[in-house]
Amino acid sequence: MVVHRGVSVSFEEKILSAALRNESRTVLALDLEDRDSSELLRKSIVTVQNVKELICGIKINRQLILGLGLDTVAESILKLADEFALPTIMDAKLNDVGHTNEFMAQKYFDAGFDAVIASPVAGWDGGLDKVFEAAKSRRKGVLLLTYMSNPGAEAFYSLSAKETNGDEKPIYEILTERALEWKAHGLIVGATQPRIISRIRKLIGPELPIYSPGVGAQGGNPKSAIDAGATYLIVGRAIYSSTDPKAVAQGLRIKPST
Ligand code: XMP
Repeated sequence: MVVHRGVSVSFEEKILSAALRNESRTVLALDLEDRDSSELLRKSIVTVQNVKELICGIKINRQLILGLGLDTVAESILKLADEFALPTIMDAKLNDVGHTNEFMAQKYFDAGFDAVIASPVAGWDGGLDKVFEAAKSRRKGVLLLTYMSNPGAEAFYSLSAKETNGDEKPIYEILTERALEWKAHGLIVGATQPRIISRIRKLIGPELPIYSPGVGAQGGNPKSAIDAGATYLIVGRAIYSSTDPKAVAQGLRIKPST
């Protein structure tokens, strides 16, 4: 359970409230690199401090956990995020068998993350069932990878597949249906594919958030992604590699609808 300033809030409530407060739909992807771990930590903290009032959340990748270790990330960046009332998402892309997925999800949640990203390809029974259970008991979130942002994504996610009842549809539509069925807290759909965002938005209706990575460095346009139906944008290099991260984050600000 996320306890913020003495009040228990769910992941979805926390990100919506940060988005409304900061008038921003940008989730910062904190993927900095440095062989020197103290320098990596310093750069990561400076980036967060620079843009904290211009974003609605922070996404951390396994890359940063490898560089700093989970305990250091928890004691520094997650603590800082909590001070600024910014939710944190662990981009673990969980995709293993149930018991290891469950262990990893629990570790990330107990470290302080508010949500994890998982791959629906692992399936429910003995795949993601225990991840959803771990999240539910703590009021945390599970976001499902539904269509990746990289150019090669199409070769898999758009492939046509036959369901057991004989219905044939693109894999990403089947993944979207699973996300609804399993009560995921959001879908990850590349900002580089506004047409796919719009198709998925039609399938899921207006409520469930779509998180869209791939803005800037990968060529995705923030406005096109939001217009197509994305709720939040996930942005990394365009912000932290810029000479003026604050100005870029300011330029990316799009008010959430209430
Ligand atoms: P950039 O630097 O391109 O970083 O803004 C994007 C961030 O988002 C992650 N990413 C994805 N995560 N599904 C995901 O779950 C995707 O399709 C996807 N594409 C990019 C990437 O790891 C980085 O943190």
